[in-house]
Amino acid sequence: MKKAIDLKRKAYLYPAPALVIGTMAGEKVNWSTVAYHGILDSQTILLTIESSHLTTKAIREVGRFSVNIPSSKDAKCTDYVGTRSGNTCDKSEYFPCTLFDSAVPVIDTFALSYICRMEECYEKNGKTYVIATVTNVLAEEGLVREDGLIDLLKLDPLLFDWTGYYKVGGYVGRPFSK
Ligand SMILES: Cc1cc2nc3c(=O)[nH]c(=O)nc-3n(C[C@H](O)[C@H](O)[C@H](O)COP(=O)(O)O)c2cc1C
Repeated sequence: MKKAIDLKRKAYLYPAPALVIGTMAGEKVNWSTVAYHGILDSQTILLTIESSHLTTKAIREVGRFSVNIPSSKDAKCTDYVGTRSGNTCDKSEYFPCTLFDSAVPVIDTFALSYICRMEECYEKNGKTYVIATVTNVLAEEGLVREDGLIDLLKLDPLLFDWTGYYKVGGYVGRPFSK
């Protein structure tokens, strides 16, 4: 039988894919990791970012950013950019990248990236909630299935949980199949 437990982090909806956010902070590219995020609908996402982070400042100033999806082999570099702030260190050369529309840095070595446009942004208790529209999807060849969906097992996304990084275990069944 279940018992009420005193969980330090109560909003325990894990695992969550780790995301690497790409921004232009002034003239410089910056990268940082986000695991507090959500899907609001098929075009709209939410990110929760500490207001003090350089990423927050850059998103507010520029209004556009990239969401890059690491695979399980990218745990180390994803952790690296999530443990150093662009406020105090230069992460601009850390990933090989291309500027989308001459404005939004995208990681060349990750198979899937989204270009996002900030729609709304509000602050609460030192955190900034960013609501954004995904305007473009950039995917490596072979990642998109014949039915137009992303092949999750090929993508092999890096999953975050407070106990560690994980990978997807396998297919178990078809959704919406009645
Ligand atoms: C796995 C992981 C997940 C993280 N998730 C978030 C998050 O959801 N929101 C946040 O504000 N910081 C998060 N961080 C911490 C930031 O990535 C980190 O503070 C980073 O240095 C901020 O960089 P910036 O100042 O260059 O933007 C996460 C770090 C790691 C390693």
